[in-house]
Amino acid sequence: MKITVIGTGYVGITTATSLGEIGHQIMGVDIDELKIEQLNNGVLPIYEPGVEPVIQNLLKQGKLHFTTSLKEAMEGTEIIFIAVGTPQLSDGRPDLKYVEEVAREIGRHMTEYIVIVDKSTVPVGTAEYVQSIIKEQLKLRGLSVAFDVVSNPEFLQEGKALQNSRKPDRIVLGCSSQVAEDVMLKLYENIDALKHLTSPRNAEMIKYASNSFLATKITFINEMARLCDLLAVDVVEVAKGMGMDKRIGPYFLQAGIGYGGSCFPKDVSALAMMGREVNMEMTILKSIQEINQKQTDWFLERVKECMGALDGKRITLLGLSFKPDTDDIREAPSLKLIQKLLAEGAFITGFDPVASNKIKNIFPNIKIGEDAYSAVKDAEAVVICTEWKEIIDLDWRTIKSLMHGDFIFDGRNALDREMLQLEGFQYWGVGRNLNKIV
Ligand SMILES: NC(=O)c1ccc[n+]([C@@H]2O[C@H](COP(=O)([O-])OP(=O)(O)OC[C@H]3O[C@@H](n4cnc5c(N)ncnc54)[C@H](O)[C@@H]3O)[C@@H](O)[C@H]2O)c1
Repeated sequence: MKITVIGTGYVGITTATSLGEIGHQIMGVDIDELKIEQLNNGVLPIYEPGVEPVIQNLLKQGKLHFTTSLKEAMEGTEIIFIAVGTPQLSDGRPDLKYVEEVAREIGRHMTEYIVIVDKSTVPVGTAEYVQSIIKEQLKLRGLSVAFDVVSNPEFLQEGKALQNSRKPDRIVLGCSSQVAEDVMLKLYENIDALKHLTSPRNAEMIKYASNSFLATKITFINEMARLCDLLAVDVVEVAKGMGMDKRIGPYFLQAGIGYGGSCFPKDVSALAMMGREVNMEMTILKSIQEINQKQTDWFLERVKECMGALDGKRITLLGLSFKPDTDDIREAPSLKLIQKLLAEGAFITGFDPVASNKIKNIFPNIKIGEDAYSAVKDAEAVVICTEWKEIIDLDWRTIKSLMHGDFIFDGRNALDREMLQLEGFQYWGVGRNLNKIV
């Protein structure tokens, strides 16, 4: 099938790549000329493991092209994916301006039946809204062209995007006509996954409910971690014991310094706003937003309890992206932590396998290590913000010898506590500090 994907960010690139891999002919469109030039040269503008070689292969086979011209991309296309950003507005709702722009542009160029697919995360009712925008444009052109708008939300995890798209847990298809449903089932016929056929409004809600539920699970274990700390209980053991119950499951039960990223904070906020707009206070969502907001403050208080005043202290942060295997730093807890540590007067050095430069652009006054070993030189404390495998696997004896102090604050409970204690570190994890009986 001939497919157009609008927006070549984390979601658009992965959608284009995985659909190209199963034999479809793909046009990727973006307004960012540099991105399009890079992509046409086989260079991935983001860090996402495994995607670049697949793009290079598809380009070579002529199955994938990138352009800044939507009009050109739309020629003969059967399906258009909208995968543009929906960033958070200051009032908490998602900004739909990029989706609206794209819908208008589609309406300006459409001449025959196309299935338009909302892949961006958008509030309930957006499929109908996109439909009305396109209709309006067609009316202005004096045309009456049949089309459908489908909601097909994306559930990929950055860092594992390609494997998620090749083998998703489920594909949610919110279709309002049989024709659109048939087109979407044909599109995905070679992907082995559960297919959940439902209405566009249900599909839109499934995306927000899923992300908010995962954020709730993380926040629950973070609150448990705070209590564990006060009661001399190890939250890692607790989560392990809980996760063995199939009804609970082990995932998203790792206590830490809070969730971040481009999705959870904005999607929880958007769902809370959807409730507010129909006069329903979403009390669980409100609580998890508050708890998550305070998680870095709580963490910082624990650092101060251990180290005393931080003014003039040299602290190294390892892992700065919002999670491992991505260069995405949107809403990364490391950003909040750096800001707060700087306000306390600490001297900060940071290192991340791929996101260091992005952090340096935001905080030009902090030092960035060329590698983890140079970053920890003379540090009085090391803080793990993100559990990259290459950070967990560091030679911690060497790290200790390079440092000027011996504190390690494991913000992701990712390191081997016993080994570090044997190496002479004062180890502090989230919710696993058994000496703190009150
Ligand atoms: N990143 C994720 O892990 C993830 C996962 C699931 C869902 N989502 C959702 O998917 C959507 C996209 O997220 P993302 O992280 O890929 O965003 P992104 O910011 O990485 O990419 C968006 C792209 O859209 C382009 N764009 C904006 N306006 C355009 C226009 N008029 N025409 C063509 N291109 C245009 C931008 O230049 C950018 O390259 C969001 O709604 C997000 O919430 C993201």
